[in-house]
Amino acid sequence: MSFDLLIKGGILPDGTTSDIGIRGEVIAAVEPSISAEAGRVVDASGSLVAPPFVDPHFHMDATLSYGIPRINASGTLLEGIALWGELKPLLTHEAVKARALAYCDWAVSMGLLAIRTHVDTCDDRLLAVEALLEVKREVAPYIDLQLVAFPQDGFYRSPTARHNTIRALDLGVDVVGGIPHFERTMADGTRSVTELCAIAADRGLMVDVHCDETDDPMSRHIEQLAFETQRLGLQGRVAGSHLTSMHSMDNYYVSKLLPLIAEAGVSAIPNPLINIVIQGRHDTYPKRRGMTRVPEMIKAGIRVGFGQDCVLDPWYPLGTADMLDVAFMGLHVAQMTSPADMARCFDMVTSVNAAIMGLDHLGLGVGKRASMVVLDAGDPVEALRLRAERLCVISRGKVVAERPRRDTQLSLPGRPSRVNRRHKSAG
Ligand code: FE2
Repeated sequence: MSFDLLIKGGILPDGTTSDIGIRGEVIAAVEPSISAEAGRVVDASGSLVAPPFVDPHFHMDATLSYGIPRINASGTLLEGIALWGELKPLLTHEAVKARALAYCDWAVSMGLLAIRTHVDTCDDRLLAVEALLEVKREVAPYIDLQLVAFPQDGFYRSPTARHNTIRALDLGVDVVGGIPHFERTMADGTRSVTELCAIAADRGLMVDVHCDETDDPMSRHIEQLAFETQRLGLQGRVAGSHLTSMHSMDNYYVSKLLPLIAEAGVSAIPNPLINIVIQGRHDTYPKRRGMTRVPEMIKAGIRVGFGQDCVLDPWYPLGTADMLDVAFMGLHVAQMTSPADMARCFDMVTSVNAAIMGLDHLGLGVGKRASMVVLDAGDPVEALRLRAERLCVISRGKVVAERPRRDTQLSLPGRPSRVNRRHKSAG
């Protein structure tokens, strides 16, 4: 028995120590100790070996455009949308593609190997759609890239958005998106959810709607999304992104709403880094922190992931493609600081996000695709605390990124000469 690649001595997220044998693009063995020939051996002794990071909510057509043509002075969602509207006519196919590919390189370096990106369909040229479809094909050997047809300026509010969103789906965009809270009226928003779900049902596609991304406690399009999911039999294929209005909703109403979302099998994708800086901008004090009700949704049986949303674009001036940053912010804002909750936050940016995107081939079991990340941490909670270095990233059975463990050299009299902030043995 021999392997193309053997990962030795890694600690899996469940705390067990295992070797992982890989043949071709597939995990062929996961056992406590494997003694076999291998084309290459990666020593992961004492390091966490996890499934790859997965981002279920991103905007790759806007990423790395920060400052073009100006920055978002108010920091609000609405100025971000207006600024994106100024940038759109300036976009070129080449520039969108180059920025997206640069971001994909960052993603690989951070062990982020699956991304669902929304792509704006409110552009008669469909320039970004065509550019990202090309990027999807080019990165396919190492990143699962899912595209969502996203009518940023409103499916009905923008005169050609409906037509162009359908054109984008015809071109091969994977998922149906929407933005009901940006339509002209609450009724139009509701109607858009109904039509978008019908389009997805007709075409056998998934749905991922920017839903209630507002501080308005009366923005309740998630209710319609759950209703249409149930009515059309789309359970397990629909996600509501953001859901920030739920932060401000009446508690009694939420007690009715959460079981409806759970019953419909609608997933929730909060985006903590962005929600925490975009929402609450109209408040004085106390100032609402616009993240949705994560622990309460999990308790109600709703599948909840965490997304990145933005990196260096009209809405967010920071970001490094690090899903550990996303989970770190998420667990703080949601006050999920028990050991079990922190471990769950790690799962949310790996296995739960993969489930939301329907990526059944990811995971660390025999027969799964051989994609994983070796982290300079002893367990998932330590990985979060340190936002641990990605020592080795493997995609489809090939090492695609490596970096050395980084200790700091101290020059202090009578002190240890090297320090590393791991609390458990690095093996
Ligand atoms: Fe978004």
